[in-house]
Amino acid sequence: MIKIAGLTKTFPSGARALAGVDLEVKPGEILALLGPNGAGKTTAVRVLTTLCGFDSGHVAVAGHDIDVEPEKVRQAIGYVAQETGVDYFLTGRENLTLQGQLYRMTKADILARSAELGEYFDLTTQLDQLVSTYSGGMRRKLDIATALIHRPKVLFLDEPTLGLDAPSRQSLWQYVRRLNTDLGLTILLTTHYLDEADKLAHRVAIIDNGKIQVIDTPDALKDTIKGDAIILEVADTQTIPKLQYVLANMADVQDIRIDGPHVHVYVAQGATMIPRLVDATRASGAEIKYLTFARPTLDDVFLRYTGSSMTRKKDGSEPNAWWKQWAGKGGGKWQKQWQQDQTATETAAAPPPEAPWQRWQNQGDTSDGAPSAANSGTWPQQEAWRDAQTSVPDEARQKAWPESQHWQSDEGGPKTKASWKQTGKPGPHTKD
Ligand SMILES: Nc1ncnc2c1ncn2[C@@H]1O[C@H](COP(=O)(O)OP(=O)(O)O)[C@@H](O)[C@H]1O
Ligand SMILES: [Mg+2]
Repeated sequence: MIKIAGLTKTFPSGARALAGVDLEVKPGEILALLGPNGAGKTTAVRVLTTLCGFDSGHVAVAGHDIDVEPEKVRQAIGYVAQETGVDYFLTGRENLTLQGQLYRMTKADILARSAELGEYFDLTTQLDQLVSTYSGGMRRKLDIATALIHRPKVLFLDEPTLGLDAPSRQSLWQYVRRLNTDLGLTILLTTHYLDEADKLAHRVAIIDNGKIQVIDTPDALKDTIKGDAIILEVADTQTIPKLQYVLANMADVQDIRIDGPHVHVYVAQGATMIPRLVDATRASGAEIKYLTFARPTLDDVFLRYTGSSMTRKKDGSEPNAWWKQWAGKGGGKWQKQWQQDQTATETAAAPPPEAPWQRWQNQGDTSDGAPSAANSGTWPQQEAWRDAQTSVPDEARQKAWPESQHWQSDEGGPKTKASWKQTGKPGPHTKD
């Protein structure tokens, strides 16, 4: 259903996001692209959904070459971006209608399909309420519903459960599973949650530094790590080389991986090995702070194929650090500063998260590839349609989006409500 061969993409800044990706997603499969922040997941999905160009390679989605028939690809796919793409000022049904209109569906079809999707995602009773009153989980469900309005065959979900609490995540997984089993949708999802990839995907592709490091079923991946995993966290990393030497010479130790202060020891029988490992560690002069013992997880697989633990990588990078620094400061300075920071830290691993309003700013900029069908012309159409069909009084919209909340929301940015009003451009919640 998806075929990628030798895909490369380097941004004008010099960041090499995709360094030769080869991947095949079979029809009816859920494939998880698992990797830490900055691995290239979003870039890969943006290429596959025709939202950005690429340097070299071949990409086909639903039997259409992405270079030759991008429109046919767009018709066959649904895309849920990393940040929510639904409009907070509209109701759930209005969002669905807007999306249906962008796909040039008939009014009757949009009505029927919206009702069907509302029911499917258990949103029927909330469908005529403003999205700003929805919980994070409901918003995400609506986001997926809008991506499905035109009955696509392939669904792309970029970090679908990012920022959701545990119950909402589990509930969303159920919907994703059902979309796959009931409707036969082929699903490519990206995630940096190991459990999500493990529980949801038929196959997992581990991506790091713009390359697929390994791909297989979660079980087969875990089976490549034989036996049990014992993780020793030592008090002093300087004691590790000697410890490693001692452990490597012990019978029954199959493999050792070092990740910061964590020494991962792979053995056939964890339970019987623990006392021996503890004794050997003491004898080597190292002090154990913590010891954990588990069946190998995808994190062990990740460590094996990339040389560092996914969990630690994740902790080490703070995707919103840049954003937090400038959020709420207002004025035009932030952007200049950001540009300076960009040049200064060109090699920094994670890009600044693309704020939603940046997207409309960048819409006309085709240097990064073709703009999406959904983007072009969206806003004038939406304004006109909203004026004509609005069923929610303006006061209700104002109330649901009080000024004080404007920049404290998760979608916030240093753009004021006043300037939004003046420009007439969309606020911090635009459709990707
Ligand atoms: N718009 C952009 N401009 C410049 N570099 C970018 C841009 N988007 C992503 N990158 C770079 O590409 C790499 C991959 O980013 P991304 O695909 O967003 O990763 P992920 O989704 O796995 O977190 C990052 O190292 C980042 O620096
Ligand atoms: Mg991403």
